[in-house]
Amino acid sequence: MEWEPLGKIVDKACLSACCLTTALIVGSPVVAAQSAETNLTANCSECHGINGVGTEPDIPHLNGQLESLLATMINDFRSDKRSPKVRIHREIPADRVNTLAKHYSQQVAVRPKSATNPELVARGEALYQKRCAECHVDAGRESDKEAPLLAGQSLQYLIAQSMAYKRGERKYPYLMDDAYRDISEADLVAIAHYFAAEDQVASPRGRKRRR
Ligand code: HEC
Ligand code: HEC
Repeated sequence: MEWEPLGKIVDKACLSACCLTTALIVGSPVVAAQSAETNLTANCSECHGINGVGTEPDIPHLNGQLESLLATMINDFRSDKRSPKVRIHREIPADRVNTLAKHYSQQVAVRPKSATNPELVARGEALYQKRCAECHVDAGRESDKEAPLLAGQSLQYLIAQSMAYKRGERKYPYLMDDAYRDISEADLVAIAHYFAAEDQVASPRGRKRRR
């Protein structure tokens, strides 16, 4: 796996012949910036896109996630605290962690919605209010206690991670084990449908409804 030295990412973006020519013609720093992003995310974009939107149903969306949380997640993979399914997560160089976390945290792309079942969404909402709302505030949109943005996350990914926690394959963060105590897998699936169906950004109407 090749990793561009960090200092060179921006330089190279500007010095590449194509970019230089375009920049001279258009005089556009935007082109150079886009190239730098392409280089930065070169080892990630196949799966997470340049803008953090997962390219397959089992790949999580990273856009809009807290920068500090993304860095923690990457470091958990690097230190094997969380065993990554994809090897590259373990190999991300230390000097790249914060830059990648910052990049993906700043992306504002709209997460494409997974197909969800309205009955499960309704059941999931009631369960969510009882068990998950304390930390995953506002339908999982607010990152209270460093909880991730779950609204609009991929359904398949949410279900997979919920099962991984329940079956002991992923370590519970914080006091989340309390929230999962004696919950059935069917209930966790319903909550996943609820999170997946929510917009990642609250609409003004949605905000009013919740008050
Ligand atoms: C081949 C596909 C693939 C590539 C390439 C890839 N990822 Fe992932 N990524 C995944 C999958 C799948 C997961 C779900 C976690 C798991 O199964 O291990 C994931 C999970 C993550 C998570 C945790 C998200 C969460 O909500 O828990 C972060 C952060 C992440 N990847 C960052 C990166 C970064 C940064 C790169 C580039 C250096 C990268 N990934 C490259 C497929 C990929
Ligand atoms: C006491 C606080 C707390 C409660 C209550 C809680 N969570 Fe979490 N949850 C967290 C934190 C913190 C994380 C971040 C995990 C990490 O850093 O890897 C998280 C992560 C997750 C993830 C993984 C997301 C990802 O991107 O990898 C899922 C799924 C999840 N929670 C579901 C739930 C569900 C479902 C409930 C209710 C049954 C719940 N949580 C209740 C704090 C909480």
